[in-house]
Amino acid sequence: MGTKSDYKRLAQQVCHPEPFGYAQDKLREGSRGQTCPERSRRILRCAQNDTSERLRRRVYQCHVFRFSSLHVHRLWVAAVVLGVLLASGCRQQMADQPRYNPLAPSAFFADGQSARPLVPGTVARGQLRDATPLYTGKSGAAFVDTFPLPVTRAVLARGQERYNIYCAPCHDRLGTGDGMIVRRGFRRPPSFHLDRLREAPVGYYFDVITQGFGAMQDYAAQIPPRDRWAIIAYIRALQLSQHATLAEVPAAEREKLLP
Ligand code: HEC
Repeated sequence: MGTKSDYKRLAQQVCHPEPFGYAQDKLREGSRGQTCPERSRRILRCAQNDTSERLRRRVYQCHVFRFSSLHVHRLWVAAVVLGVLLASGCRQQMADQPRYNPLAPSAFFADGQSARPLVPGTVARGQLRDATPLYTGKSGAAFVDTFPLPVTRAVLARGQERYNIYCAPCHDRLGTGDGMIVRRGFRRPPSFHLDRLREAPVGYYFDVITQGFGAMQDYAAQIPPRDRWAIIAYIRALQLSQHATLAEVPAAEREKLLP
């Protein structure tokens, strides 16, 4: 590493008086405390013209030193400035737009409310609840007895999952009405295997889930319409599981059931 006196000697050796004088001036004690003064390029240029190996090494050392002290310091400053710029530049301007908190009052709208009613005659995408059996379980005033959507294996699997979550706590997994909540004192629901409920149309079940029934609350908020139908399809499967005749079992499976 070149020290101040090394560098001075080097300058004296290789440079003619004019640049030396300039360099000496820069190298004076207390000139910013740098071993290689920042602007003594003339000395470097002068030294670079010399071809001797020793001089080349000195000049290289001087460069290394310059980089390792002064430049590293500058890099730090640059990094901090860049960091500050980036941190402030990345702020999302969209977050600062004017907006209302939910249900806050508004001086802009005539009725003083920021929450706006639906525009008459419009329906939000995916929000259409028309008076079809899919959403009412009824056709006119009568409960429908056919499913308004195709009942597939996937629908049944979904229904089983939803039933076990929302209905089994009271109606139990088989539908006999002996769920855990009932065992702890809640009113006992009728079994789904009663003739009355086996014969009830599917639309009736949809109505019970949507409106509630007696002591049973409604599940309209928790269970979307298609899931209600899936649950009903699964209840039908449960009912069938307890009331099928041997003739209804596929021939290939029948053998297995016989003693
Ligand atoms: C918190 C317990 C509870 C849960 C959960 C529950 N039920 Fe019920 N359910 C009852 C009770 C109690 C009754 C009987 C109400 C009465 O007679 O007052 C009943 C009655 C019924 C009936 C019979 C109505 C009739 O005509 O007798 C059906 C159908 C029914 N529930 C379906 C469901 C379905 C489907 C679910 C799941 C989405 C469900 N219940 C979830 C407690 C529950």
